[in-house]
Amino acid sequence: MTFPAHSEDGIVQEVKIVGQHPLRGVVSIGGSKNAGLIILAACALTEETILLHNVPKLDDIRLMLTLLRKLGGIVEWCGDALQISMKRVCGDVDHDAVRRMRASICLLGSLVARKKEVLIALPGGCVFGPRPIDIHLRGLEKLGCTMSFCDDLIHVRAKELRGATIDLLGPNGSTVTGTANILCAATLAKGTTILQNAAREPEVVDLCKFLQLMGAKIEGIGQSTIIVEGVEELHGAEYALMADRIQIGTFALLAAMADSDVKISPGCRASGASLWSAMEEMGAAVAWEGDDVRIRGSAGSLHAIHLETLPYPGFPTDLQAPMTAALTQANGEGSIAETIYQNRFAHVKHLAQMRADLQLDGNRVIVRGPTELFAASVVASDLRCGASLYMAALVARGESTIRGIHHVDRGYECFEKKLQLLGARIERQRE
Ligand code: EPZ
Repeated sequence: MTFPAHSEDGIVQEVKIVGQHPLRGVVSIGGSKNAGLIILAACALTEETILLHNVPKLDDIRLMLTLLRKLGGIVEWCGDALQISMKRVCGDVDHDAVRRMRASICLLGSLVARKKEVLIALPGGCVFGPRPIDIHLRGLEKLGCTMSFCDDLIHVRAKELRGATIDLLGPNGSTVTGTANILCAATLAKGTTILQNAAREPEVVDLCKFLQLMGAKIEGIGQSTIIVEGVEELHGAEYALMADRIQIGTFALLAAMADSDVKISPGCRASGASLWSAMEEMGAAVAWEGDDVRIRGSAGSLHAIHLETLPYPGFPTDLQAPMTAALTQANGEGSIAETIYQNRFAHVKHLAQMRADLQLDGNRVIVRGPTELFAASVVASDLRCGASLYMAALVARGESTIRGIHHVDRGYECFEKKLQLLGARIERQRE
């Protein structure tokens, strides 16, 4: 996913961070960006009103809400709840938005189920490699869709959708958005659809629970084989999104690598065992208080580990850059291999600018620590790269400048505010 080199309003922003201030206090985590995006796309499956809670106020979410409005939807905030009515669905998905934000492609499954004809742009690639949708399209064809291509636009039609057996396995495991797209289309297809090698990420589980509340008949939630019995129509529902497990993981790794005593709430237990077992292996001081987690960090307390990113329940690729930052403060030589994307390493050169001792060896980043980091002027090129640069700057000696922070705004809600409340010296400025 690539956004322009500046934020929507054309204002180039940056943050200044003075490192080595202790982090103390409680950080509360909002709703999941990735669950929110696929659940918002699913709202187009019904004419009835949906009420969603715990929807994070993030740029990607705002873009999805704009897309729903452009499709004819009525989308309003009622206090902290979001009310969506897709009674009327007209027009096509805004092509520029799809080119800029890959998750917009998730509207395809809902719209083809609802309207039987959709014109949509191919989503853009992004800085960490190609982002194909061949599995999405193959699955829709199996459900009875025909498609024609003109430039980067796909015209998808279906007389009717009929259940089928669909294998969602890609070269590096399954696909979250691909699973979401096929799930949505299958809920209104005639007959039974069997999704094989479906993504098991918690965000897909959240979507399945939401679809069930809308009247969808789904079995095998959280498993790699999901069975959907198509129904005539879906009805309105009220649902609260899960907490954002990648934000939880980012704050947890930051607390572990810094001088800190930080409590993270809520939804920590559902953040994935792979994160907590990796942190335990590193010797992080993690204490559970119900569903909240308290992490005490101190210099030199972590030891290095070797791990790789994998589809759920493996270690998430979205925490690869944050984990790389944490490994710079761990004793010994560690490494993390990226098995999902070809080139999700934009953070490596910027961490090296801060004098981290790391080297790229194929798809593996080898990190030696603990290394005292020094402030630098760096640029975020995607949201998880950006998060890792904030983490490194918070433990570095001196004042760092981080540009490209509109990427971070896509996935981290009120990031500076939350860090300031923990005692970090961080300020957002116009360049
Ligand atoms: C979801 O993207 C997340 N986004 C990503 O989070 C996350 O990095 C990714 O899953 C992997 O966990 C949302 O949920 C909105 P993919 P998704 O591109 O499902 C291959 C973030 O930082 N593939 O499908 O779109 C692909 O090449 C974002 O929050 C095919 O081959 O991931 C890749 O290797 C970044 N053909 C793998 O599958 C297809 O048709 C998964 O990538 C589709 C995918």
